[in-house]
Amino acid sequence: DWTMAEFRAAKIAEIRAQVGEGRVICGLSGGVDSAVAAVLIHEAIGDQLTCVFVDHGLMRLGEAEQVVSLFREHYGIKLVHVNAEDRFLGGLAGLTDPEKKRKFIGGEFIKVFEEEAAKVGGADFLAQGTLYPDVIESVSFTGGPSVTIKSHHNVGGLPERMNMKLVEPLRELFKDEVRVLGKELGLPDIFVGRHPFPGPGLAIRIPGEVTKERCDILRKADFIYLEEIRNAGLYDAIWQAFAVLLPVRTVGVMGDLRTYDSVCAVRAVTSTDGMTADIYPFDAAFLSRVATRIINEVKGINRVVYDYTSKPPGTIEWE
Ligand code: XMP
Repeated sequence: DWTMAEFRAAKIAEIRAQVGEGRVICGLSGGVDSAVAAVLIHEAIGDQLTCVFVDHGLMRLGEAEQVVSLFREHYGIKLVHVNAEDRFLGGLAGLTDPEKKRKFIGGEFIKVFEEEAAKVGGADFLAQGTLYPDVIESVSFTGGPSVTIKSHHNVGGLPERMNMKLVEPLRELFKDEVRVLGKELGLPDIFVGRHPFPGPGLAIRIPGEVTKERCDILRKADFIYLEEIRNAGLYDAIWQAFAVLLPVRTVGVMGDLRTYDSVCAVRAVTSTDGMTADIYPFDAAFLSRVATRIINEVKGINRVVYDYTSKPPGTIEWE
């Protein structure tokens, strides 16, 4: 029986053997997979590892700061924090088509990452938090039908372009196993148990044009919604929960005043792999508490709706 402690020890030996005296660069996304990969590799080769965190400004409230402090202060891992918010928001200006938004973000991400890798002085290896399902999915993509429902940018593109050898210590693991390994490596629960978050971040939760102002509005609403979910003890029972800021304004009343503000949709699903999903059946009191708080506390939102769509036919994200 293969325990996680044994897996950890074996992987560390394997990474050392593969890398030797070489230098490794690893992109951090804020998600569990890249975090666990980075901490494991750091344990194996210490300062031969440099992490690059491309902060596209499309993260949730406080998330970028959390990543930076965990890696730099807690683990003492060399981390380059690239604040690229202006660059991403600048390129997103005027884009409304979901695929164009995704393509721009994916492409820009690679450019920024390459520039930073060059500044660091290059590396021999590129580390990625690729999981077993990613391996299968990218294989079946090439063999499967030529219809892309959504272009994901986790796998592919980068390694070929950068001409580096890959270090992928999580390739044999499923998500739940990565979480166990993360715990084993001492990653805080708030990190290990975190819901999946898409690479393009909040940009695909703001249908229509993405602006700094709309990102800020969405961040506040999303934070309140997740705070209520945690307070109700429901976070771990849910696969993903998030708010979406709709490009629709509706009329409301606040005190004696008429408002004309945006609609926010909240979504929560259960799933085992993200391929299919069911809506989470919150009780009415919970949902009305969330709606009231968001409307009272977030300027710019005056209506909250709950998304009742399972996958299929809907996708988990709105874009
Ligand atoms: P959908 O929306 O296709 O999403 O039902 C399935 C799962 O994948 C996540 N997702 C992404 N993850 N880059 C990512 O890293 C992406 O472009 C992307 N799009 C969707 C989504 O959050 C869900 O967990």
